Amino acid sequence: MDKFIITGGKQLSGTVEVSGAKNASLALMPASILASGKSVLKNTPELNDVFTMIKLLKHLGAEINYKDEKLEIDSSTINDFTAPYEHVKKMRASVYVLGPLLAKFGKAKVSLPGGCAWGPRPINLHIEAMKKLGVQIELSDGYIIAEAKSLHGAKINFDVSSVGASGNALMASVLAKGMTVINNAAIEPEITQLADYLVKMGARINGIGTNKLEIEGVSELKPADVTTIPDRIETGTLLIAASITKSKITLTQTSPDLIESVLIKLEDCGCKISRSPDNITIDAQNIKFNPSSITTSIYPGFPTDMQAQWTALMSIAEGVSTVTDSIYFDRFKHVPELTRLGAQIVIDKNTAIITGVKKLTGAKVMSTDLRASASLVLAGLAAKGKTEVLRVYHLDRGYQRIEKKLKSIGADIQRIESKEY
Ligand code: EPU
Repeated sequence: MDKFIITGGKQLSGTVEVSGAKNASLALMPASILASGKSVLKNTPELNDVFTMIKLLKHLGAEINYKDEKLEIDSSTINDFTAPYEHVKKMRASVYVLGPLLAKFGKAKVSLPGGCAWGPRPINLHIEAMKKLGVQIELSDGYIIAEAKSLHGAKINFDVSSVGASGNALMASVLAKGMTVINNAAIEPEITQLADYLVKMGARINGIGTNKLEIEGVSELKPADVTTIPDRIETGTLLIAASITKSKITLTQTSPDLIESVLIKLEDCGCKISRSPDNITIDAQNIKFNPSSITTSIYPGFPTDMQAQWTALMSIAEGVSTVTDSIYFDRFKHVPELTRLGAQIVIDKNTAIITGVKKLTGAKVMSTDLRASASLVLAGLAAKGKTEVLRVYHLDRGYQRIEKKLKSIGADIQRIESKEY
């Protein structure tokens, strides 16, 4: 397993390009199952979760070409309807094939994902939505076995706003007979892009970008091209890399609108932010770092996927702050590792109480999941001395060449490739 060695304390400067959004790609890719023919997904980031989804689509029988972030998926050769455990256990987003397989072929067998690194992440809402659309579902041997002669429109009211369940319900309902209404649908930009893409394929959807989606089923969809939106979490992570090292950098090929909740909090801390439609410049040089508390919530609130990185940043703020995760109550695996670097953090239920310290100091730390790993790299950039971040395969799931990007703006970070650790 590869590790990173970071020598902290270097100021960053320069410009970095943001990649396409992982969580948009993971929804757009299975959507291609709905059309027979070749879909082209541009700006698809080169990262391990995308490679896992490619393997899964190939397992289903799709033909795939992927070069220079351009992904071509020909779904006309799909002849298998099973998402096996070996894929789903690696990546929960594999469950996204459930809706499109049912809509297109009327059958799907998808492994249940089980727990995740930071606690339970149920998929009951996905299953309930499919049942509403007329799907017979049986759970057997760790699999969802789903079948429907034909899907019909339905009224789906989600008790909790769920990105994945909204995506699955949307992909299943576009080919269902009649009208479907999804209430309390997720309005995360990745779901909005999925809905826009489905419309480009011929779907009829009203209310895109709102939490009430009205879908009038059509009889078929045709392949379409799409350019994946920028990754708002990579954007936020790089902004924190600049702020935690008191630096000034510019991010290109991104959009401030996607990450406004984080930009406002960074401004509260004292950072200067300039926004233009595709670029963000952050200047955290010579600032007194004010603490700023956050509570995660659904879009456009502060994203749970930025919570760990924010905790790292607050570790060096001048005062006390709190970080509350209202989406995932147990997502605090990074905290014991951050304390190994000298951070002062106490957990009370789903809140981290952080007392800023004057400096962090380098140590060996262990990645446990994607965003936890990102927080350790960020803390390592600020820490005095050498930090070793072990098990960076978690980071490789969701950040495209993160160490290269950080190096290009002056960070001292190297990847040590190894089969050990
Ligand atoms: N939930 C249920 N039942 C369900 C589905 C969700 O109770 O059937 C609950 C969850 O336990 C959670 C809340 O609903 O408390 C929201 O979860 P959601 O379904 O929105 O999460 P997801 O679709 O599984 C996506 C992202 C995550 C991100 C969450 C929240 C993808 C592939 N994954 O997951 O991204 O944290 O939305 O925004 O889009 C990451 O990129 O690191 C990551 C984990």
